[in-house]
Amino acid sequence: MAILFDEKKKVFTLQTKNTTWQMQVGRYGHLLHLYYGRRVGEGVLDYLVRGINRGFSGAPYEAGEDRGYSLDTYPQEYSAYGVGDYRISCLSVEHGDGSRAAELLFDSYQIEKGKYSLAGLPAAWDEGGEAETLRVVLKDKASLVEAVLLYGVFEEHDVITRACIIRNKGEGIWLERALSACLDLQRHDLEMITFYGRHTMERSLERGMCRHGKITAESMRGTSSHQENPFVILCEKGAGEDWGECYGMSLVYSGSFLAEAEVDQINQTRFVMGIHPEGFRWRLEKGERFFAPEVIFSFTSDGYGALSKNFHRFYQEHLIRSKYRNTRRPILLNHWEAMEFHIQEEELVSLAVSAKELGVELFVMDDGWFKGRDHDRRGLGDWTPDTKKLPKGVTGLSEKIHGMGMLFGIWIEPEMINEDSDLYRAHPDWCLKAPGRMPNRERGQLVLDMSSREVQDYLFENIGGILKEAAVDYVKWDMNRNLSDVWSFSCPAIRQGEAGHRYVLGLYELMERFVRAFPEILFEGCSGGGGRFDAGILYYMPQIWCSDNTDAVERISIQYGTSFGYPVSSMGAHVSVSPNLQTGRSMPLETRAIVAMAGAFGYELDVRKTGQEERKRIKEQIQWYKQYQELILYGDYYRLTPVEANREFAAWQVVSRDKKTAVVSAVCLHARSNPLFWRVRLKGLKEDTWYRVRQERLTDCSGKDKEQEQKEGQDENPAKREELLCLGSGLMYGGVNLPVFWRDYESVLYVIEEADKRGGGLPGER
Ligand code: DGJ
Repeated sequence: MAILFDEKKKVFTLQTKNTTWQMQVGRYGHLLHLYYGRRVGEGVLDYLVRGINRGFSGAPYEAGEDRGYSLDTYPQEYSAYGVGDYRISCLSVEHGDGSRAAELLFDSYQIEKGKYSLAGLPAAWDEGGEAETLRVVLKDKASLVEAVLLYGVFEEHDVITRACIIRNKGEGIWLERALSACLDLQRHDLEMITFYGRHTMERSLERGMCRHGKITAESMRGTSSHQENPFVILCEKGAGEDWGECYGMSLVYSGSFLAEAEVDQINQTRFVMGIHPEGFRWRLEKGERFFAPEVIFSFTSDGYGALSKNFHRFYQEHLIRSKYRNTRRPILLNHWEAMEFHIQEEELVSLAVSAKELGVELFVMDDGWFKGRDHDRRGLGDWTPDTKKLPKGVTGLSEKIHGMGMLFGIWIEPEMINEDSDLYRAHPDWCLKAPGRMPNRERGQLVLDMSSREVQDYLFENIGGILKEAAVDYVKWDMNRNLSDVWSFSCPAIRQGEAGHRYVLGLYELMERFVRAFPEILFEGCSGGGGRFDAGILYYMPQIWCSDNTDAVERISIQYGTSFGYPVSSMGAHVSVSPNLQTGRSMPLETRAIVAMAGAFGYELDVRKTGQEERKRIKEQIQWYKQYQELILYGDYYRLTPVEANREFAAWQVVSRDKKTAVVSAVCLHARSNPLFWRVRLKGLKEDTWYRVRQERLTDCSGKDKEQEQKEGQDENPAKREELLCLGSGLMYGGVNLPVFWRDYESVLYVIEEADKRGGGLPGER
């Protein structure tokens, strides 16, 4: 049993393999948080909660002279506004009489087999019977408002999910805030790690001490955003990849969000997460319920490397639903960086032919294929093919691509509309815009009101029709701006505070219809790259285009930051042209490939323009990736260098779940004259097992030597291709020497395989 209830002490204990979460019904009925951390067994930790009369921290009326019992200082499971807790509240309710308060008291509980689900929202699922659910009903003392706290316990994964349902059994109320979860920790030695960014530079890691007052990671953009990410870590001061207590929190939601930590007057830390309250106001009539989205929690005392592993596995096994969640992904070529809007069927076909020769399996036609879409100010909303570009429509092109034995995919941007479109001319009211105001434009486009069923139906029928007729195998679902002017024609004036969240609910409804109707399609999320990279989207789509920045050096940092909360299999990553279109930086083909291979791999350049030698190497890369793809996508991923601190080189590693094979990649970020020796310590291997370390021929770490080799007509220097035979312990604690890098952006790729037995005339033994 992962969930236990001690009737006598009124204590709930949630157990996972390595963690314990404990809470207790306090002596006046409030649900107090006792503990979340390393597994402590069933022993009750109620002695940890103490109170003294501090002054200016009142006590509930019933407490009488028991003045130490204060909601302002006691750790709680779900905090509410207006009843003497001055710290961050999860819930703020305005009642019919204008009062704003909710004092939530324990009413009942239920323990169930399996995992709860949330109406209309993405949430972790459980098919194998691993999970258990705890529902705790809290009732407001003075009204008929209830908060149902939901806990999903995944024992094997060290994951506890939380969500909350607000039920109103009385007269209508307004929800001013309805966050998903609160975690009250009786400590303040914590750092908060967040992932900030901007378009083409997403998820840069930033860490800072929690301090008295608040630190926030948030988005008020209507989407989870490039600027902050709804995945955060609280860790003990100084924690690293392999050391330190870490709490990870991931919000399964794609709209505006708030993640906030506050250190209070007695050095406790409260963390809350959920829908951003700014602009939010939700009417709950009698008998209605409001579902706050899920937060996935995981804890480990072994550093954030272990925390990432928990999240990666959990997403793959209990969040992503696509048939592609744990299978091979076709290697794709996307036309965008090669041609942008300037497409013609014969050009696309010749690009596909060229890609097919290289081993590419899926050809993707990106933006530019529908009526009027010659630039970004026209056409969005009109989902009919432009027959000037595609004489026989999408179906005609699809037949040709399929005829070549390739899969075929298209780009769509359903949520958007250009004013220069037939759809806008017919339905100008279908976009978000406030009466009497001209809406903010971004990329020449406005946002469709996704909360409207009419709009959803239009999109599903039109786009769905094409997907069906053209037998499309892959869809890139893009979204190229943030929400502004959030005013919905489908909401009455007084309920406009619901429009932002209703947009997200409408989006999820539409995504659900698409993934149900087209279960064979591989969907890839996108929002100007990684502007909506969150667990909500991953529920519908197994991969997300990680960034519009395809420069390999920048990608190292973007993929590094992303990997803290999201698996390698979720990151779309492509090899693009050199010099790079975003940065102008030149980069060896090998390095571009090695970086893109740390993700769902593909190409995004005009391969017709590549020379014979490059084509040969691309073929080799594709063959190589096909061989190791499953290991890379679904193995255990390790960050070997801290990209935010090590500006000289970056290295990462993936190990198969059976620990028999590993792939290590390293890239020189800053070559030095008279270079230093660099070494990486590997991770995740078996200490007592012999491994063979092989430098792959795909790599480019030859610098000066390579020029020499070319002069001499040799294609490799045998000395550098030596194999090493070493025990796992040696590779992990001693490390592996990287080759001497002589040039910026040289890179190396090693395959490490369990060796049957020691020996075999290897260089190390000679
Ligand atoms: C933004 C995406 O991130 C790009 O990859 C490309 O699809 C463009 N949109 C097309 O408009």
